[in-house]
Order: sequence, then C-alpha cells, then structure tokens
Amino acid sequence: MNHFLEIAQLSTQGISDLIQRALDFKNHCVYPRYQQYTVANLFYEPSTRTRVSFELAANRLSMPVVNLDLQASSESKGEIIEDTVQNLAAMGVSLFVIRHKQEGLPKTLALNYPDKVHIINAGDGRHAHPSQAMLDLMTISERKSDLRQLKIAIVGNIRHSRVANSWQSLCSLLNVGELTLVAPDIWQPETVHYGRTTDSLADGIGNADVVICLRVQHERLLAHEQLAVANYRRDYALTRETIKYAKKDAIVLHPGPINRGVEIDSDVADGAQSLILQQVSNGVFMRMAILEALIQ
Ligand code: CP
Repeated sequence: MNHFLEIAQLSTQGISDLIQRALDFKNHCVYPRYQQYTVANLFYEPSTRTRVSFELAANRLSMPVVNLDLQASSESKGEIIEDTVQNLAAMGVSLFVIRHKQEGLPKTLALNYPDKVHIINAGDGRHAHPSQAMLDLMTISERKSDLRQLKIAIVGNIRHSRVANSWQSLCSLLNVGELTLVAPDIWQPETVHYGRTTDSLADGIGNADVVICLRVQHERLLAHEQLAVANYRRDYALTRETIKYAKKDAIVLHPGPINRGVEIDSDVADGAQSLILQQVSNGVFMRMAILEALIQ
C-alpha cells in the first residue's frame, strides 16, 4: 500500500491486518522506531481528532511531524497544494496527511507523486474518510463478533457525509449483515452503494446492534438543503427515549465533533452504550497501523 485514499482500495485481508496491528499497538504498547520518516499534516478544513491523532500516532512511532500552519504558509501567497507537497517532499517529508474540501484531491496528488511520497486521505469533502471508518470498525470489533450478523444504522446528514460513504464501502467489502441509512428526505444520499435508506428513526435503528450518529454538517448545506435544527432534533436525535428502539446491548458511535442537544443528548453520548471516547482512543492506534503499513 503506497497511499491510503479510500476503503475501496483495501482487501478484506488488508482490513483485518490493519485492525490486528492497531490492536497489537493498543494491547502490547511496543512501538517500533521509524525516525527516518517525516509526516506533514496539511489540514485545509478544521479538525481536532484526526489531526491530533495522526500527530500522536507519528510521535509514538518516533516519526518527526510538521503541522503546517496554512494561514502562515506560502499558500496565502498563491502557492498551490501540488507545489507545497513537492517542496515539503524536497525537504524530506515522506508522508502527507491531507484534509481538503475538494473531493478526490488526495487521489490526484497520489497520482502526481506515485513513488516519492505517501498520501493519506484525512477527509476529502463529502467523498471519503477512510481512517475514521477503520477506527470505527476496530471499536465495533472489540464489542461485536460476527459482522455478517450485525445490524448497523447510520443516522444523520447522510448526503453530505464522507463517513457514511466510507462506511458503505466497508459494509460492502465485509458483507455486513444489514446497513440502514437514516435521514430526512432532503439529506438522503444521491446514490446508495450498500444497504437501504429510511426517513424513520424508529424503523432505521429498530433492533440495531450499532448506531452511528452523525453531526449536521451545516458548512456543506446548500440553501435548498437547510432544515430547522429543532425539527431535525424532534425527528432524529438520539435521546434516552429514542435509543430504546435499538437493541438493549446496542453500542453508540459518533465520529465527532458532537453537537450535544442537537443530534445526540448527553444522556446517550455519555451513557453506558456510548463508545465515542473509545473511538477517539482507538484512532491513535489505527493511525499508527496506517502509517506503518505505508512505509513497509
Ligand atoms: N471525526 C473527525 O474527523 O473529527 P475531526 O474533524 O475533529 O478530525
């Protein structure tokens, strides 16, 4: 694996290897030293979890990290990202973690630099967020054994969600039992690669084993896609009452950032069924596994 761009590039064996390696890092705390590889974090959209966890992952593997301050970089003077990558590569950076609103940009960069550098997609617009889907899967696999028997529901702004897209690819590859995408009509996906859609929360999360809650991504909504937050909350929020539609032992995930009192209540986000912080912890180990896989 030279680049980490989307779930569809992985094999079932590759997915299983990444999860196993991430669990090894988590359970044994033995970290190899890769100090000859430098990582650059290039985040053109805001991030807390992904940026910091890639930095911590690199630190644990003894890889030097550069966090480019894009406000203070030469991009503010008109430099294009291709030149930024090329210049950093000339200084010895070999791994680039890139988040950008332009869908497909990490792939384009990977095609431009096939041998010299490793590109990691840390979220490109509405398209993909593969490391998030992988850390979610790792978290689920710690609690639920047979994916082919699982009922997974994703609730929220599916149309604009790169997480939901990556999850559809993952479910398709792994033949997950059932995937239901729950959203109001206006936020339903334009195309569905795997699973079914519903506009009913009760139907969608009814009897689910795993409920993945998504943030309303206001920054991606066009004028005609706006929905009153109060109406969304009334019909789709995960609350102490609505989570009862799911199985008693259902687990609740959220990629973050969470908006308490909008798509999820604190009763659920901080409740016994929530694995939200476990996802965040696992993110560091999964990203260690991804960085290592790229340099092997
Ligand atoms: N899940 C996720 O991508 O969070 P950040 O936007 O904080 O990186």
